[in-house]
Amino acid sequence: MRKVMLGTVALMLSTPVLADTAVVTAARMFDPASGRTLADPVVIITDGRVVSLVTQGGARPAIPGGARRIDLGDATILPGLIDMHVHVASDATIRGDRALQYTDAFWTVVGVSNVKKMLEAGFTTVRNVGSGDYADVALQQGIDGGYVVGPRIVPSGYALGSTAGHCDGLEGLPPSFASLPNPSVADSPEEFRKLVRVQKRYGAQVIKICATGGVMSRTDSPGAQQMTLAEMTAVVDEAHRLGLKVAAHAHGTEGINDALRAGVDTIEHASLADATSFKLAKDKGAWFSMDIYDDDYILAEGAKNGMYAESLEKERQIGLKQRQTFRAAHAAGVKMIFGTDNGGVFPAGQNALQFAKQVEWGMTPTEAIRTATTNAAQALGREADVGSLAPGHYGDIVAVAGDPSADVRLLEHPVAVIKGGELVFKAAH
Ligand code: ARG
Repeated sequence: MRKVMLGTVALMLSTPVLADTAVVTAARMFDPASGRTLADPVVIITDGRVVSLVTQGGARPAIPGGARRIDLGDATILPGLIDMHVHVASDATIRGDRALQYTDAFWTVVGVSNVKKMLEAGFTTVRNVGSGDYADVALQQGIDGGYVVGPRIVPSGYALGSTAGHCDGLEGLPPSFASLPNPSVADSPEEFRKLVRVQKRYGAQVIKICATGGVMSRTDSPGAQQMTLAEMTAVVDEAHRLGLKVAAHAHGTEGINDALRAGVDTIEHASLADATSFKLAKDKGAWFSMDIYDDDYILAEGAKNGMYAESLEKERQIGLKQRQTFRAAHAAGVKMIFGTDNGGVFPAGQNALQFAKQVEWGMTPTEAIRTATTNAAQALGREADVGSLAPGHYGDIVAVAGDPSADVRLLEHPVAVIKGGELVFKAAH
């Protein structure tokens, strides 16, 4: 017996591990970069990456023996979607002080449920911009290790901000809480520099800062700048040196503009951006990530979910304005990515509801789809990995029942989702 086992081990060491190959076929493929729809795609995915993509007219590729077949019938396939602004470890239905009755680890458990929903909704990559306890890194580790089903996660760790700011976890609590650890708060360029390094130490792949006040925080004003230009410049300098991009939560005009001057890579929300902001963003090559679906959900469900009255009032002030800014920014030629605040603001897995809003506020369907594919991949600096089905990219695919470039609402109900060549979701008919 012992001999046989040793023999098997020797055999395993000397024989190359067999590659796993999946062959995906469907009626059509929508290619976001070119905006074209191509018939009869055959996508060959080996060990998670596309090795061959052939469409109508191309010579049919040789199918490796033993390949798994995934035929998606009459569906249209496109690259897996990317949401650039999610909160995997939050529950949109538990808001305000109601969150205080849960354990710290509860939010990571919520995350296990959320990430599955986001993946099954067709979002095969999500950028998580702010989680306590490095829950986003933990979920990434769990997913990559095969413990949990979910998308590829680009984690930030804690969202960093100033004392009393939007990202101050002790904001709104009485002074007797002030001695608690507050791992996301800093108050000088050097303190922020240190926090960037700490996020990096625990696995952050992007740095999130809170440049201005926000809606969900209780006491501050979305229009108010909460980090100085010097602080943001230090964050960007340190993050870029470490190879990390910087995402800045910024609703107010001055905060947006100083964040852009500091060199951040993406502006989150951008509600009160003005013509100066548009020019700065274009000059600097920065992207706007505007969560313009949220207003509908917050105004309909926020009070029921326990949102603070102050937050609801702030949403009423800013929601419509943000949509008007979205239209103006897009018309001015600002580069846009798809960021929804899903998980934090509306229930996990409903990310795709924002596509129709982006079309309603000025984009063509193809432009809207690009925000979540081509553009998002570029903004992540991962255009060689995601956002396209060209050979070399991950075999991440979402399939819909019809032409998404005619009707983006089809993206709200994918018929199948493939991640790295594995069928992770198939709709029941
Ligand atoms: N996390 C954001 C904040 O609290 C959500 C803003 C939602 N509202 C909106 N209109 N996009 O500021």
